[in-house]
Amino acid sequence: KTSIGIGLIGIGIIGGAVARVLRDRADRLSAQVGVPVELRRVKIADIDLTRPIIAEFPRELFTTDEVDFWATPGIDIVVEAIGGEFPAFNYLEKALRSGKHVVSSNKEVIAKHAAELLDLSRKNNVGLRFEAAVGGGIPLLQPFQYDLSANEIKGIFAIINGTTNYILTRMAREGIEFSEALKQAQSLGYAERNPANDIEGFDSVYKLSIMSMLAFQTEVKPDDIYREGITKLEARDFKYAEELGFVIKLLAIAKESEGEIELRVHPVFLPRDYFLAKVDGVFNAVLTTGDLVGDVIFSGQGAGPAPTSSAVVADVLASAQEAASGVGNRMRWRLDGGKRLRPMAD
Ligand code: HSE
Repeated sequence: KTSIGIGLIGIGIIGGAVARVLRDRADRLSAQVGVPVELRRVKIADIDLTRPIIAEFPRELFTTDEVDFWATPGIDIVVEAIGGEFPAFNYLEKALRSGKHVVSSNKEVIAKHAAELLDLSRKNNVGLRFEAAVGGGIPLLQPFQYDLSANEIKGIFAIINGTTNYILTRMAREGIEFSEALKQAQSLGYAERNPANDIEGFDSVYKLSIMSMLAFQTEVKPDDIYREGITKLEARDFKYAEELGFVIKLLAIAKESEGEIELRVHPVFLPRDYFLAKVDGVFNAVLTTGDLVGDVIFSGQGAGPAPTSSAVVADVLASAQEAASGVGNRMRWRLDGGKRLRPMAD
């Protein structure tokens, strides 16, 4: 191939950050791949020229028409940044069936449809990457797929929702109200469009489901995970916790024992000195244990446009290298690892 073309679906907070990086670093990215890498088309619901991000790019880059988007010549990689289950699923399916590599930052659609999408990516010999779906800019999924893949993973303990960790941190430190802390998280671009996904724990469930699929090579649906959010926590809970030397965190937990995995997301009292108790603000952290490697910790900014674009564009680069060299799908990921899921406690 003499060039690699990208089609982007959605230009919201994440899509916008990705479009800017692809434009501003085009030379560097092209040099890394060895051929020009270009953003060729953006599918968007509404071409609102008063939106600064839209006004920054040539008008012809955008289309609201699906047929027009899919007919754009020279698109090798489709980047989906709209979030939500539908129509995102239909777009990913269409892209894979058309032999295009897929990069998605959408945890909900991956958590709910991983098996089907993985199957399509194999059949069509194209990549399906979603590093940005979990932990924003932190390299997490790639390590589970490659670097840790010789291990039996014994456990995952994670803070993987930036919005709730930001809210819990502000409430603990400043005693501010839940609603005020949430508003600030939203204004910083951390929260989901529907913040219930964050504060009720769904976002953490989707992310735990994806990490567990890669770690245990077994399909884990969101409904297989016990879930409790942070909306019932009150200022006095933080006061009591502090008096007793504890910190409140929303944890996502997966534990393996004798071939069975237990999966849950809920608020936890952690001793103040414990490593995860000290992860504050929008930071995420994942502690995982492999039988060979022992404990490994990943930590960094788990939400926000710039960190998330870091992961999306890295996936674009990996896909572009595959597309440019014609090697097809080099992912190592299976869902036939044979672990049983422990039934949820009521
Ligand atoms: N709403 C998510 C969070 C965004 O707060 O972590 C990143 O997935």
